[in-house]
Amino acid sequence: MSQAKAEPVLEGRSLAHSFDYPLYRDVSLTMAAGETVAVMGRSGSGKSTLLHTLAGLIEPMEGEVLLFGKPIYRLKEEEKERLRRYRTGIVFQSHYLFKGLTGRENIEVAAMLAGEGIDPELLRRLEIEKVVDQKVSELSGGQQQRVSLARVLSKRPRIIFADEPTGNLDQQTAELVMETLQEYVDASRAALFMVTHDPAVAAYCRRIYRLEDQRLTPVGDGQGK
Ligand SMILES: Nc1ncnc2c1ncn2[C@@H]1O[C@H](COP(=O)(O)OP(=O)(O)OP(=O)(O)O)[C@@H](O)[C@H]1O
Ligand SMILES: [Mg+2]
Repeated sequence: MSQAKAEPVLEGRSLAHSFDYPLYRDVSLTMAAGETVAVMGRSGSGKSTLLHTLAGLIEPMEGEVLLFGKPIYRLKEEEKERLRRYRTGIVFQSHYLFKGLTGRENIEVAAMLAGEGIDPELLRRLEIEKVVDQKVSELSGGQQQRVSLARVLSKRPRIIFADEPTGNLDQQTAELVMETLQEYVDASRAALFMVTHDPAVAAYCRRIYRLEDQRLTPVGDGQGK
C-alpha cells in the first residue's frame, strides 16, 4: 500500500551566514520524523551557528527555515514561542542550567513549562538519579551535561537539537547518552540534529555531514535511523 510522504519536520533552504568571516552558504537540509543527522567540522566552522539557525534562534542572513512546515522567522512571536516550548528541545554546548537550583528543579521547570512531568526512568537511564537533588554548582561537568539532556527530553520534543551533547563525557557515558537519545527518537518518532567532534558519536546517526569550506557535505551514513 502506498503511504503519503511524511511532511518534513525541518527544512533549511539555501542558508547562509557570516560573522567576522563567511561561515557557510547555500546550505540546504531536510529531515523527516524519526531521522537523525550529525554534523562534524573544525572548531569555528559555524556548526553551532547552523544549529541555532535551524532551531529558530539565529535568523539566517540568507535562506529560510521551516520547522514543522512553518517559516519560523516569519511567525508571530507567540507562535514561534509555542513551537519552541512544546515541540523543540535544544541541548546547548554551554548548558545554561540554573546553578543555584538542584538538577531536579532545573528539569522540573522545563518539563512544567511544556506541560510534562519528570520520567524517573529517564534519570535512571542517564545514571543521574543519585545526584539530581544536588545543586547544579556541585555537579561535575558530565553530570551537568546529562541533567541538561534530561531537561530537554522531559519536554518531550518532536525535534531535538543537540550541540556536542557528549562533549564532556568519557566514552562509556557518551555511549549511554547516545543510546538514550536513540531510544527517545525511536519511541517518540522524534528527529535529532546533532553536532559532534567525535566520529564514534556521529556514527549513531543515520546521515553524517561535514561543515567545511563553507559547505555542508554528506560524508556517509552511520548505523542509526
Ligand atoms: N553571536 C556572534 N557574534 C559574533 N561572532 C560570532 C557569534 N557567534 C559565533 N560567532 C563566530 O562565528 C564563528 C563560528 O562559531 P560557531 O560557534 O558557530 O563555531 P563551531 O563550529 O560551533 O565551533 P566549535 O566547534 O568550537 O564549537 C566563530 O568565529 C565565532 O567567533
Ligand atoms: Mg560549537
